[in-house]
Amino acid sequence: MDKPKVLFVCLGNICRSPTAEAVFRHRAGRAGLGVYIDSAGTGAWHAGELPDARAQSAGKARGYSFEGQTARAVIDDDFEDFDLILAMDQKNLKNLQMMAPNHLCSKIQLFLEFLNDRSVTEVPDPYYGGPDGFEHVLDLIEAASDGLIAEISENYG
Ligand code: 4NP
Repeated sequence: MDKPKVLFVCLGNICRSPTAEAVFRHRAGRAGLGVYIDSAGTGAWHAGELPDARAQSAGKARGYSFEGQTARAVIDDDFEDFDLILAMDQKNLKNLQMMAPNHLCSKIQLFLEFLNDRSVTEVPDPYYGGPDGFEHVLDLIEAASDGLIAEISENYG
């Protein structure tokens, strides 16, 4: 099977989904997994911007690279181009489901469905909070990335 294309989606594409892109790229590479990875926002207010400085500093402190990332909004072609479209929270999930043609909606799911702990379903928006929020985002994204790697290794192997 072709290597899967994974799109991470949050609201602004400056905090959570760029972090997911950086973490998943690092961990998938380490696992020897061939994947194409990108991220986007359901909103376009931050299009063209670099990832949020707080997200970058928290992620870089754990060894992740944000090189080459600039924010963009989700576009219609994404629903054709990507195999897995992973929303950070319920609101983004709903917005994606409204944007996508019906026959492609099955590609869209919550990223935290790949977390072992099924009591947590959303990566909370850290934008208006303090540094702890960015650490919590990283913890959730690291754990869900490992679940996603296991799933892809099984299904695309
Ligand atoms: P993100 O965080 O969706 O994780 O990139 C946010 C970034 C910007 C805003 C909200 C959330 N904003 O309201 O501008």
